[in-house]
Amino acid sequence: MNNIEVIMNICDRRSAIKFYDSPVPDEIQDNLFEFLSSVPDHKSLRPWRFVVIDVSSYDDICARYRKLAGIQCDLPSISIDMLNRKLRRSPLIVIAILSPDMNKKVSYQDQIISAGIAAYTVSISAMTLGLGCFWSTGILTKSKILKNIINLDSGEEIIGFLNIGFPMLLSERDRNIKINDFVEYFSLTTESCYGEEI
Ligand SMILES: Cc1cc2nc3c(=O)[nH]c(=O)nc-3n(C[C@H](O)[C@H](O)[C@H](O)COP(=O)(O)O)c2cc1C
Repeated sequence: MNNIEVIMNICDRRSAIKFYDSPVPDEIQDNLFEFLSSVPDHKSLRPWRFVVIDVSSYDDICARYRKLAGIQCDLPSISIDMLNRKLRRSPLIVIAILSPDMNKKVSYQDQIISAGIAAYTVSISAMTLGLGCFWSTGILTKSKILKNIINLDSGEEIIGFLNIGFPMLLSERDRNIKINDFVEYFSLTTESCYGEEI
Protein backbone atom coordinates (compact mmCIF):
# COMPACT_ATOMS: atom_id res chain seq x y z
CA MET A 1 0.00 0.00 0.00
CA ASN A 2 1.50 3.40 -0.93
CA ASN A 3 1.19 6.58 1.17
CA ILE A 4 -1.84 7.90 -0.69
CA GLU A 5 -3.61 4.57 -0.28
CA VAL A 6 -2.83 4.61 3.44
CA ILE A 7 -4.33 8.10 3.81
CA MET A 8 -7.38 7.14 1.74
CA ASN A 9 -7.76 4.11 3.98
CA ILE A 10 -7.79 6.33 7.07
CA CYS A 11 -10.28 8.78 5.54
CA ASP A 12 -12.51 5.90 4.46
CA ARG A 13 -12.52 4.17 7.83
CA ARG A 14 -15.71 2.28 8.61
CA SER A 15 -16.50 0.08 11.56
CA ALA A 16 -17.03 -3.57 10.80
CA ILE A 17 -20.39 -4.69 12.13
CA LYS A 18 -20.09 -8.39 11.21
CA PHE A 19 -17.04 -10.60 11.05
CA TYR A 20 -16.09 -13.92 9.48
CA ASP A 21 -15.21 -16.70 11.92
CA SER A 22 -11.74 -17.21 10.40
CA PRO A 23 -9.08 -16.49 13.03
CA VAL A 24 -6.65 -13.59 12.74
CA PRO A 25 -3.15 -15.07 12.14
CA ASP A 26 -0.65 -14.43 14.96
CA GLU A 27 1.78 -12.47 12.79
CA ILE A 28 -1.02 -10.05 11.82
CA GLN A 29 -2.03 -9.67 15.48
CA ASP A 30 1.43 -8.29 16.31
CA ASN A 31 1.19 -5.75 13.49
CA LEU A 32 -1.89 -4.21 15.11
CA PHE A 33 0.33 -2.52 17.68
CA GLU A 34 3.30 -1.45 15.58
CA PHE A 35 2.09 2.08 14.83
CA LEU A 36 1.51 3.16 18.42
CA SER A 37 4.77 5.13 18.47
CA SER A 38 2.88 7.75 16.41
CA VAL A 39 0.42 8.48 19.23
CA PRO A 40 0.78 11.98 20.77
CA ASP A 41 1.71 11.34 24.37
CA HIS A 42 2.38 14.09 26.95
CA LYS A 43 5.66 13.30 28.78
CA SER A 44 5.76 9.89 27.10
CA LEU A 45 3.75 8.24 29.88
CA ARG A 46 2.19 5.70 27.52
CA PRO A 47 -1.04 5.76 29.54
CA TRP A 48 -2.53 2.81 27.70
CA ARG A 49 -2.17 -0.90 27.44
CA PHE A 50 -4.02 -3.63 25.59
CA VAL A 51 -5.15 -7.14 26.45
CA VAL A 52 -5.54 -9.37 23.41
CA ILE A 53 -7.99 -12.25 23.68
CA ASP A 54 -8.26 -14.88 21.02
CA VAL A 55 -11.37 -16.97 20.33
CA SER A 56 -9.56 -19.98 21.82
CA SER A 57 -9.81 -18.32 25.27
CA TYR A 58 -13.47 -17.26 25.14
CA ASP A 59 -14.78 -20.42 26.82
CA ASP A 60 -12.18 -20.14 29.60
CA ILE A 61 -12.98 -16.49 30.23
CA CYS A 62 -16.71 -17.15 30.42
CA ALA A 63 -16.13 -20.13 32.75
CA ARG A 64 -13.93 -17.95 34.97
CA TYR A 65 -16.54 -15.19 34.98
CA ARG A 66 -19.24 -17.68 35.98
CA LYS A 67 -17.08 -19.04 38.77
CA LEU A 68 -16.18 -15.61 40.17
CA ALA A 69 -19.79 -14.41 39.88
CA GLY A 70 -20.68 -17.21 42.30
CA ILE A 71 -18.30 -15.71 44.86
CA GLN A 72 -18.24 -11.97 44.31
CA CYS A 73 -20.91 -9.54 43.12
CA ASP A 74 -20.70 -7.65 39.87
CA LEU A 75 -22.91 -4.71 38.93
CA PRO A 76 -26.47 -6.12 38.90
CA SER A 77 -27.06 -5.30 35.22
CA ILE A 78 -24.04 -7.28 33.99
CA SER A 79 -24.65 -10.86 32.91
CA ILE A 80 -22.55 -13.69 31.57
CA ASP A 81 -24.67 -13.54 28.37
CA MET A 82 -23.59 -9.97 27.84
CA LEU A 83 -19.93 -10.93 28.10
CA ASN A 84 -20.40 -13.97 25.89
CA ARG A 85 -22.12 -11.89 23.17
CA LYS A 86 -19.44 -9.21 23.31
CA LEU A 87 -16.64 -11.75 22.90
CA ARG A 88 -18.26 -13.85 20.22
CA ARG A 89 -18.90 -10.96 17.92
CA SER A 90 -15.45 -11.58 16.38
CA PRO A 91 -12.60 -14.13 16.57
CA LEU A 92 -10.34 -11.62 18.33
CA ILE A 93 -11.00 -8.95 20.91
CA VAL A 94 -8.53 -6.32 22.01
CA ILE A 95 -9.39 -4.64 25.28
CA ALA A 96 -8.07 -1.08 25.36
CA ILE A 97 -7.12 0.07 28.84
CA LEU A 98 -6.45 3.53 30.20
CA SER A 99 -3.47 3.10 32.49
CA PRO A 100 -2.83 6.56 33.92
CA ASP A 101 0.17 7.73 35.90
CA MET A 102 -0.98 10.53 38.20
CA ASN A 103 2.49 11.20 39.64
CA LYS A 104 3.97 12.94 36.61
CA LYS A 105 1.97 16.20 36.52
CA VAL A 106 0.11 15.24 33.36
CA SER A 107 -3.65 15.76 33.66
CA TYR A 108 -6.04 12.82 33.67
CA GLN A 109 -7.72 14.39 30.64
CA ASP A 110 -4.47 14.40 28.64
CA GLN A 111 -3.95 10.76 29.47
CA ILE A 112 -7.48 9.72 28.48
CA ILE A 113 -7.03 11.49 25.15
CA SER A 114 -3.73 9.72 24.44
CA ALA A 115 -5.19 6.33 25.37
CA GLY A 116 -8.18 7.02 23.07
CA ILE A 117 -5.88 7.91 20.19
CA ALA A 118 -3.90 4.72 20.88
CA ALA A 119 -7.10 2.66 20.61
CA TYR A 120 -8.05 4.51 17.42
CA THR A 121 -4.59 3.77 16.01
CA VAL A 122 -5.16 0.06 16.60
CA SER A 123 -8.49 0.29 14.76
CA ILE A 124 -6.85 2.08 11.82
CA SER A 125 -4.02 -0.47 11.81
CA ALA A 126 -6.60 -3.26 11.66
CA MET A 127 -8.12 -1.70 8.54
CA THR A 128 -4.74 -1.22 6.95
CA LEU A 129 -4.05 -4.92 7.52
CA GLY A 130 -7.28 -5.91 5.76
CA LEU A 131 -9.16 -6.49 9.00
CA GLY A 132 -12.22 -4.80 10.45
CA CYS A 133 -12.74 -3.34 13.90
CA PHE A 134 -15.74 -2.42 16.03
CA TRP A 135 -15.18 -0.26 19.13
CA SER A 136 -17.73 -0.61 21.87
CA THR A 137 -17.94 0.23 25.54
CA GLY A 138 -21.10 -0.08 27.66
CA ILE A 139 -21.65 -1.30 31.20
CA LEU A 140 -19.17 -4.20 30.80
CA THR A 141 -16.32 -1.67 30.98
CA LYS A 142 -17.26 -1.33 34.67
CA SER A 143 -17.40 -5.05 35.43
CA LYS A 144 -15.38 -5.73 38.56
CA ILE A 145 -15.14 -9.41 37.68
CA LEU A 146 -13.90 -8.80 34.16
CA LYS A 147 -11.37 -6.27 35.46
CA ASN A 148 -10.21 -8.93 37.89
CA ILE A 149 -9.93 -11.60 35.16
CA ILE A 150 -7.78 -9.38 32.94
CA ASN A 151 -5.74 -8.06 35.89
CA LEU A 152 -6.58 -4.38 35.88
CA ASP A 153 -4.94 -2.26 38.58
CA SER A 154 -7.19 -0.10 40.73
CA GLY A 155 -6.51 3.12 38.75
CA GLU A 156 -7.02 1.51 35.36
CA GLU A 157 -10.17 1.66 33.23
CA ILE A 158 -11.42 -0.26 30.23
CA ILE A 159 -11.95 2.35 27.52
CA GLY A 160 -12.91 0.07 24.67
CA PHE A 161 -13.61 -3.41 23.47
CA LEU A 162 -12.15 -3.62 19.98
CA ASN A 163 -13.72 -6.55 18.17
CA ILE A 164 -11.37 -7.45 15.34
CA GLY A 165 -11.54 -9.94 12.50
CA PHE A 166 -11.97 -10.24 8.76
CA PRO A 167 -14.92 -7.98 7.98
CA MET A 168 -18.13 -9.41 6.53
CA LEU A 169 -20.18 -6.20 6.73
CA LEU A 170 -19.17 -2.57 7.24
CA SER A 171 -21.24 0.19 8.83
CA GLU A 172 -22.93 2.57 6.44
CA ARG A 173 -23.13 5.68 8.54
CA ASP A 174 -23.73 8.81 6.50
CA ARG A 175 -20.38 10.62 6.22
CA ASN A 176 -21.64 13.93 4.84
CA ILE A 177 -20.31 16.52 7.20
CA LYS A 178 -20.64 20.28 7.13
CA ILE A 179 -17.39 21.70 8.44
CA ASN A 180 -19.10 24.94 9.49
CA ASP A 181 -21.20 22.95 11.98
CA PHE A 182 -18.15 22.38 14.14
CA VAL A 183 -15.39 24.74 13.01
CA GLU A 184 -15.49 28.42 13.80
CA TYR A 185 -12.84 30.79 12.47
CA PHE A 186 -12.24 33.13 15.37
CA SER A 187 -12.10 36.85 14.82
CA LEU A 188 -11.90 39.62 17.42
CA THR A 189 -14.68 41.44 15.58
CA THR A 190 -17.11 38.59 16.41
CA GLU A 191 -20.26 40.26 17.72
CA SER A 192 -20.53 38.23 20.90
CA CYS A 193 -17.33 39.85 22.18
CA TYR A 194 -18.84 43.33 22.35
CA GLY A 195 -20.11 44.54 25.66
CA GLU A 196 -18.76 41.61 27.65
CA GLU A 197 -16.69 42.36 30.67
CA ILE A 198 -13.42 40.53 30.77
C1 LIG B 1 -15.29 5.43 22.76
C2 LIG B 1 -16.34 4.81 21.88
C3 LIG B 1 -17.28 3.96 22.43
C4 LIG B 1 -18.28 3.38 21.63
N1 LIG B 1 -19.17 2.53 22.22
C5 LIG B 1 -20.12 1.95 21.45
C6 LIG B 1 -21.02 1.01 22.02
O1 LIG B 1 -20.92 0.65 23.19
N2 LIG B 1 -21.98 0.50 21.22
C7 LIG B 1 -22.08 0.85 19.88
O2 LIG B 1 -22.99 0.36 19.20
N3 LIG B 1 -21.23 1.72 19.32
C8 LIG B 1 -20.24 2.27 20.07
N4 LIG B 1 -19.36 3.16 19.50
C9 LIG B 1 -19.54 3.55 18.08
C10 LIG B 1 -19.04 2.52 17.08
O3 LIG B 1 -17.72 2.10 17.40
C11 LIG B 1 -19.00 3.10 15.66
O4 LIG B 1 -18.10 4.19 15.62
C12 LIG B 1 -20.35 3.54 15.19
O5 LIG B 1 -21.20 2.42 15.08
C13 LIG B 1 -20.33 4.26 13.83
O6 LIG B 1 -19.70 3.50 12.85
P1 LIG B 1 -18.41 4.06 12.11
O7 LIG B 1 -17.26 3.90 13.06
O8 LIG B 1 -18.27 3.25 10.86
O9 LIG B 1 -18.68 5.49 11.83
C14 LIG B 1 -18.34 3.69 20.26
C15 LIG B 1 -17.36 4.53 19.70
C16 LIG B 1 -16.37 5.07 20.49
C17 LIG B 1 -15.31 5.97 19.87
